[in-house]
Amino acid sequence: MLTGAGVSAESGLGTFRGADGLWNRVNVEDYATPEAFHRRPAEVWRWYAERWRRMQAAAPNAGHQALVRWEGLFPSYLLVTQNIDGLHQRAGSRAVVELHGTLRRARCVSCGASVEMHIALTLPGEPPRCSGGEACGGFLRPDVVWFGEMLPAGAMERAVESAEAGDVFLVAGTSGTVFPAAGLIEVARRAGALVIEVNPEETAMSGLAHLRFAEPAGAALPRLTEEILEWRNRSRG
Ligand code: OAD
Repeated sequence: MLTGAGVSAESGLGTFRGADGLWNRVNVEDYATPEAFHRRPAEVWRWYAERWRRMQAAAPNAGHQALVRWEGLFPSYLLVTQNIDGLHQRAGSRAVVELHGTLRRARCVSCGASVEMHIALTLPGEPPRCSGGEACGGFLRPDVVWFGEMLPAGAMERAVESAEAGDVFLVAGTSGTVFPAAGLIEVARRAGALVIEVNPEETAMSGLAHLRFAEPAGAALPRLTEEILEWRNRSRG
């Protein structure tokens, strides 16, 4: 399955597109590219630190919680998320691939050492310097994927494998406009999966969905999950 910012909307975290979207308020080029970090490291670091604080203050909602129950329901189940907020894991999901990285960690631009964000934020400097095993002194940056960067190693491969293998592909809370993530919907559809979309709005990928629930994820996902569990229990006799 594939999730996007919309599944965290009911936890109080904003989405990227649409009238109130984050990218309508700030320029991607000022905050979400490697060049932006190179030009204005302090501003970019502070902006992500503030986003991290908001994400920490948010709690998983009924949509995140429902998806925890999908683990074990389908053999090839994998929760592929574009979200960097860690709310799926905080709800209890374990089979998660974070296509766009995570804000729960920072990493050194120089040696690649990884530091939990809550620790990075106690270190001096904006951004702080790497003080890991190598103590190389490079800047720490959020461990997220910026525009123009590669996805984390192996993430897309795992996501494609799961999209090709599953009977059902659930897409929730994404506008389906950012590639390669959105391409997973096409991969699943071509491989013969039943594609289900949960989104109050029509999206770029709605045409690929066999079933559409035009509702918030926090309402549709718990109901859908109950229905699947009931169906599974019935089919097991
Ligand atoms: P978008 O902001 O593009 O889309 C959010 C989608 O969520 C929209 O289609 C909304 O209609 C839908 N939505 C809003 N509230 C919802 C709710 N309660 N339940 C279900 N759906 C709801 O966010 P993404 O598709 O996640 O990348 O954006 C993809 C990527 O673009 C992000 O990962 C980020 C951004 O640039 C990077 O930063 C690399």
